[in-house]
Amino acid sequence: MPRRGARAAKWRISVVKWLLRETYPMAVDAAARRSAAAGGGHRPRHVALIMDGNGRWAARRGLPRTSGHEAGVRAVSSVLDGALEEGIEYLSLFIFSTENWNRPSAEVNALMRLAEEASESFEGHVERGVRFWWLGSEARLSPTVIRALHEAEERTRAGRAMTVAFCFNHGGRDEIVRTAAVLARRAATGGLDPEVIDEPLFARHLPLPDLPDIDMLIRTSGEQRISNFMLWRAAYAEFFFVDTLWPDFTGDQLRALITAFAARKRRFGTV
Ligand code: FPP
Repeated sequence: MPRRGARAAKWRISVVKWLLRETYPMAVDAAARRSAAAGGGHRPRHVALIMDGNGRWAARRGLPRTSGHEAGVRAVSSVLDGALEEGIEYLSLFIFSTENWNRPSAEVNALMRLAEEASESFEGHVERGVRFWWLGSEARLSPTVIRALHEAEERTRAGRAMTVAFCFNHGGRDEIVRTAAVLARRAATGGLDPEVIDEPLFARHLPLPDLPDIDMLIRTSGEQRISNFMLWRAAYAEFFFVDTLWPDFTGDQLRALITAFAARKRRFGTV
């Protein structure tokens, strides 16, 4: 029967695709990116946000910096709406860096509290299929915060509409160093031949290896820096710097930037 034959062929193709993705995830990602970019009108699969400007937003209103971060949570809510409408698969939010420990303790504590409450703050989005992942180190975090972040992941694991990575206690160099240490330990105990270490293997050992490379990296507040954010995965990201302070950033602005992204020519080192 031709229809049965077509179904079987489709099934075989999806098995082969699954096997390819399991075996060569970087190669498959790169091929998909290249063909999308070559076709023009491409859409970002992974959008990452450096949410800067909360302190200045608060200072302009005579408010404490912590009010700026609270307003920042409201902006995240609007951005999640925009990203869901755009069908973005992965959205990463830089919430707390490994360098942010140097801030006043009241501010650090406020950011810890916002992280603890994070998944409840976006309950409506969870109902719409958002799942949360945590990208960052456990070092120096309290057991309460660690538990809350793991619980957020656990509670939302069935979500399939969009994956939101909370980059919390995250540092780009830190994750590269930790990955190198994992591989060095395996090599030292004879479990890994150093000769086979290449980029795809390294990427498979990064924390959250299923989080793909960043396609589009947005930083608000007019600053033009990467600030140690996802250094490995930002290798071929398209950068967008906007003057808006984070608490004023909206889902509609995100959607406009996604339209601008479609006009960028991505070459990944080729011509
Ligand atoms: C940088 O702005 C912002 C941060 C260090 C914190 C970002 C946190 C949020 C946007 C809250 C979101 C929280 C959750 C849990 C989703 P800044 O304070 O350095 O601003 P400034 O440069 O104007 O001082």
